[in-house]
Amino acid sequence: MKRILITGASRGIGRAIAEKLAGEDVDLLLHGRDTVALAEVCKRVRAKSVTKLIHDLATTRGVCDLIAQVGDKRLDVLVNNAGIAVVKPFTEITQVEWEQTLGVNVTAPFMLIQHFAPRMPPGSTIVNVLSIAAKSGFPGWSAYCMSKFALEGFSQSVREELREHKVRLINIYPAATATEIWNNVAGDWPTEKMMSPNEIADAVAFAVSRDADVAVENISITNVTGAL
Ligand SMILES: NC(=O)c1ccc[n+]([C@@H]2O[C@H](COP(=O)([O-])OP(=O)(O)OC[C@H]3O[C@@H](n4cnc5c(N)ncnc54)[C@H](OP(=O)(O)O)[C@@H]3O)[C@@H](O)[C@H]2O)c1
Repeated sequence: MKRILITGASRGIGRAIAEKLAGEDVDLLLHGRDTVALAEVCKRVRAKSVTKLIHDLATTRGVCDLIAQVGDKRLDVLVNNAGIAVVKPFTEITQVEWEQTLGVNVTAPFMLIQHFAPRMPPGSTIVNVLSIAAKSGFPGWSAYCMSKFALEGFSQSVREELREHKVRLINIYPAATATEIWNNVAGDWPTEKMMSPNEIADAVAFAVSRDADVAVENISITNVTGAL
């Protein structure tokens, strides 16, 4: 039996990952803020049990409450997926937007990894949903890139620290994927070049299901014709 925690499972990529990792022998811990959307996902997935975690990860209080609700039972898979994208020229980014980006995209994964990794048994897996924006800068995406580069650096180092405990750390680098995150991004984006969230979920499921001593450490996924 596996116990799997996925943040940002109420929609988009997180929802697709939840549907892919579900199974009759799985205790799913699904996080989101949108109670209606999360309830819908919980209803759709087939699992041994499903727990709803409704917390704002932009605040340390929200992350602490999530950790308390998850409790001390062993965790086999932690998926850090929740994320926000503030897209605008760097001169227009507000302090609040900067701090929220840091909170959800960096501090929350940091706190969750720091708390849960030492409690995860050998063979368990941490997945970080990063982005191609963890490797390159893009105009208008400075706050987002800052957050993904930061998590990239943190998780590369943590991966090395976790080797002796046989806990795998998998970084996923999707290019543009068709989710609601784009609803708040101004501009005309070629949606036909965006991937389905299912493609990202398939990659996560593949990496998580390898033998316990095999780590598929980094997966980049992009449209064959290139980035947008
Ligand atoms: N879509 C892409 O093109 C793309 C490409 C590369 C990487 N990514 C990454 O993939 C991950 C998922 O993105 P997505 O495209 O699936 O976006 P999405 O459809 O907008 O979903 C974002 C998820 O994060 C949660 N979330 C946002 N702010 C939160 C907060 N303050 N507290 C708690 N949860 C919060 C949302 O929960 P609620 O809706 O319930 O609030 C939702 O479940 C993100 O880390 C994103 O950076 C996306």
